[in-house]
Amino acid sequence: MNNDTFSPTPPKGGLIGHRGIAAHAPENTLASFQLAAQQGIEWVEFDVRLTKDNGLVIFHDDKLERTSNGKGWVHEHTTEELLTLDAGSWFNPHFKDARIPVFEEILPQFLQLNLFLNIELKMPPKASLDHKKRLASTLTDILIRLWPFHHAWPLISSFDWDILAYVRELLPQAPIGFLQEKCTKTMIEMVSNTYNAALHCEYQSLTEEMLVLIKNKQIPVLAYTVNQPGIAKKLLSAGLYGLFSDDPQYLLS
Ligand code: G3P
Ligand code: MG
Repeated sequence: MNNDTFSPTPPKGGLIGHRGIAAHAPENTLASFQLAAQQGIEWVEFDVRLTKDNGLVIFHDDKLERTSNGKGWVHEHTTEELLTLDAGSWFNPHFKDARIPVFEEILPQFLQLNLFLNIELKMPPKASLDHKKRLASTLTDILIRLWPFHHAWPLISSFDWDILAYVRELLPQAPIGFLQEKCTKTMIEMVSNTYNAALHCEYQSLTEEMLVLIKNKQIPVLAYTVNQPGIAKKLLSAGLYGLFSDDPQYLLS
């Protein structure tokens, strides 16, 4: 049973803010994380990716257009260039001052807000092995240098399981999350035999049989992206460890 080794304390109410509180503030910005903390959310998930100069920024898409006023691939821009962009007006002009967060710079604010972090590692399509290794080492170097010893290590997840192997080599203390759109029973069994690891699934892929297995063996499985109260209630009573939601407060109410 892997629940014995999975270190993070489950989120309050079972709910994790997806990209901060994506429903009410521009995703993956400080405003979104601050709002999560204000709403009493204890865990936030966000996405990180490498910049041209090996910086680490918080940004979901491969390209800049949808959630900023920039153009092109994120990894082809330097951190300095990315910092000049408006990452909030696309959501609402009220957020025109929101910037793309640089992970290292925003870290103290996460700690101040007392948020538990789920850091999802993202990379451009067909990323090279070198890119993946640089991404894993950039993140783990920052954490080794700056993470306070008395805080629980962030949960580090990715759809790319190779990168999770590098993270585990470099920072064996940190819990890891295997992300998969279509989860299977075999994956649940695999994760139950992996030290300090969880499986993060698209909730639609969880069958009744899988839910019974999760509950009976208390395997840490998390599901995304749940925005409907009825679905959240069903999954939490079926023993899911946590649910990623764009609007956790709505689900709680
Ligand atoms: O980590 C859960 C979820 O964020 C995965 O999908 O595309 O929202 O990063 P995405
Ligand atoms: Mg994500």
